[in-house]
Amino acid sequence: MHKNDPGAIDVGSKLPRHVAIIMDGNGRWAKAQKKTRIIGHRRGVETVREIVKACRELEIEVLTLFAFSSENWRRPAKEVGLLMDLFFIALDREVKKLHRNNIKLRVIGDHSAFPERIQKRIVNAEALTADNDGLLLNVAANYGGKWDIMQAVQKLAAKAVDGEIQASAITDEMIEAELSMSGLPDPDLFIRTGGEQRISNFLIWQLAYTELYFTDTLWPVFDRSEFDKALSSFAGRQRRFGHTGDQIEKLRNA
Ligand code: IPE
Ligand code: IPE
Ligand code: MG
Repeated sequence: MHKNDPGAIDVGSKLPRHVAIIMDGNGRWAKAQKKTRIIGHRRGVETVREIVKACRELEIEVLTLFAFSSENWRRPAKEVGLLMDLFFIALDREVKKLHRNNIKLRVIGDHSAFPERIQKRIVNAEALTADNDGLLLNVAANYGGKWDIMQAVQKLAAKAVDGEIQASAITDEMIEAELSMSGLPDPDLFIRTGGEQRISNFLIWQLAYTELYFTDTLWPVFDRSEFDKALSSFAGRQRRFGHTGDQIEKLRNA
């Protein structure tokens, strides 16, 4: 089916197949509690558990969480160090639980910048959960949307230089095939907690037609009921993908 044919698009789903979240507001939550920022990040891990559980129960296929951006290295060295420690611990403790729950973990982003001990745990965690066929959990760590597109372009450019492909014949599907989340449906629903209304170099390409949801709720206190609010907002929207509302209605009723 051609993509200009409205029949080729998913217009009727009330539940997203893929949810992508910018988990923001840990630091501000901690500050309001007169606690250190790392306490906020630790509480944030608890929210991750709760939202992962909700996704399993709802049988959402893919959950993609922004854990550490390629720009977050700019934070004070102490906070970066503590975040690395938290990531290192979670890659062991949390991953065992994920595995017991048939969840497949993938860490997307440039792993090469992480300390060796973390890189090893990423490899082990992905290997341990590789055959699980429940929820797919993508954790974006040292991820940047620009980085993702750049590394895809580098791979295609190398193929063009080798004569495997022609530069002028590069299609959007070929670019997609080289992105970190190739083969997965694009996010249907994007959520950002913490009140900011920006993308902060998260998924750029993949959010082209995603429904956006912003909430002031800070990530450490974002819970199942807050998640349900985002899902019901999504369920009430009409996704048109460039078509008219009437075309979409006709398809829904067909
Ligand atoms: C998000 O919370 C977590 C990371 C970026 C690692 P923040 O740490 O950005 O929290 P705020 O925005 O300072 O409240
Ligand atoms: C985005 O949050 C990154 C993550 C949640 C991991 P930030 O808190 O780093 O974003 P900015 O700097 O406010 O845009
Ligand atoms: Mg923030």
